[in-house]
Amino acid sequence: MYLYGASGHAKVIIDILKALNIKIDALFDDDITINELLSTPVKHQWQGESPVIVSIGNNTVRKQIVDKLQQCDFATVRHPSAIISPNVRMGKGTVVMQGAIIQSGATIGSHCILNTGASVDHECIIEDFVHVSPQATLCGNVHVGEGAWIGAAAVVIPGVRIGKWSIVGAGSVVVQDVPDGAIAYGNPCRIRSQQGCCSGNHDIADDSAKRIAVYGAGGLGREVAGGIEKINKFGKERWNFIGFFDDNKQVGSSVSHYGEVLGGMEDLNSVSEPLALAIAIGDPRTRYNIQSRITNPNIYYPNLIAPSFKILDPSTFKIGQGNIIQEGCSATCDVTVGNFNVLNGSNVLGHDVVVGDFNVLMPAVRLSGAVRVGCCNLFGVDSVVLQKIHVGDNVTLGAGSVLMTKPKDGQTYIGVPAKKFEFE
Ligand SMILES: CC(C)(COP(=O)(O)OP(=O)(O)OC[C@H]1O[C@@H](n2cnc3c(N)ncnc32)[C@H](O)[C@@H]1OP(=O)(O)O)[C@@H](O)C(=O)NCCC(=O)NCCS
Repeated sequence: MYLYGASGHAKVIIDILKALNIKIDALFDDDITINELLSTPVKHQWQGESPVIVSIGNNTVRKQIVDKLQQCDFATVRHPSAIISPNVRMGKGTVVMQGAIIQSGATIGSHCILNTGASVDHECIIEDFVHVSPQATLCGNVHVGEGAWIGAAAVVIPGVRIGKWSIVGAGSVVVQDVPDGAIAYGNPCRIRSQQGCCSGNHDIADDSAKRIAVYGAGGLGREVAGGIEKINKFGKERWNFIGFFDDNKQVGSSVSHYGEVLGGMEDLNSVSEPLALAIAIGDPRTRYNIQSRITNPNIYYPNLIAPSFKILDPSTFKIGQGNIIQEGCSATCDVTVGNFNVLNGSNVLGHDVVVGDFNVLMPAVRLSGAVRVGCCNLFGVDSVVLQKIHVGDNVTLGAGSVLMTKPKDGQTYIGVPAKKFEFE
């Protein structure tokens, strides 16, 4: 048996499989930083392995993954402690957790989650991709539309219809129908917001997401837009990405599948509502110049940090604003990162490293313990700075170089050991 999704939800399914004496061959996850879960290996390249269960709690993401894994054999599992009437129909990929009860005549769709202690009474109809959270109670003849999420300990009285991709808050008592795409909660349960959209609760929850744009519609811009998608999926924040600003690209032109160019600096400085901005420019001086030309007080600069960023001791980590930290970076202890830096992936910051402002670390740059970095420095791919070296401002370190002595401001260094490079 294989599981797709190495999350907390997968841990519960692993327990169920163990209780059923079903061998788990491997898990899969798109996050390449997860390599093991509860001693089971996590792989990243799915090659049609079956049978599989998509072990992701979020209904929208679960559907996306199921769509991606088309034509494979999905398994259905039920914990032995669940009580399920023999007169129940259940689709593929559905998981019934510990202590859930499903009564006679109920119809359960595919890829649903009937969570711990959930109670689904007689003749309920539960469509595909529904999640009935722990201890939620659906009385008889309740109809739950595709992708709906019933919060923990909610109670739905007999005969009520819950619309597709809607969300019923934890502890709610639902006494009347909930339309498609609504967020409803409370006792009695009331509709608090609604979007016409029925493609996923994910989109509905985006109601509260803050708007964000990227300045720079080049390669780094696309990487940052992809990073925002990743944060939305796996991180703690939720962003509503609205598009790119770029002075060298035509307004309305598409930037891969991520979005369109909305305008240039003038347009950015005219934005009238709060807008988060990531500056996706890889040259440190240009980064600095762009940021200093943004005069609009509505623009603010969050840190965009890939969920895979690992910090040995988060209590000693300090960070300013406007930083972009891409996949696979790590920091140990007592690390300080200033403002508007780019850590372009797989960067390592040792103990007591201090990074100033507007620095760009290309992929795989490593700063050893107690290195201090000033402003607007560019560190080439795979370059290394040895321990305790102080790098001032505007230094360029060539790809693959190892800096062993203090460099002069504004100069370029290359080689192992890195030597000053004189341009002819
Ligand atoms: C309904 C829900 C999705 C709303 O999330 P949200 O849109 O992020 O809402 P917020 O947290 O911003 O809260 C907005 C307001 O609604 C209230 N509220 C949120 N959820 C509520 C609930 N379930 N019941 C009553 N009030 C609720 C908040 O107290 C807040 O009130 P305030 O504006 O007076 O401060 C969420 O709170 C919820 O209940 N999720 C279900 C969680 C669950 O069951 N998980 C099971 C996992 S297995």
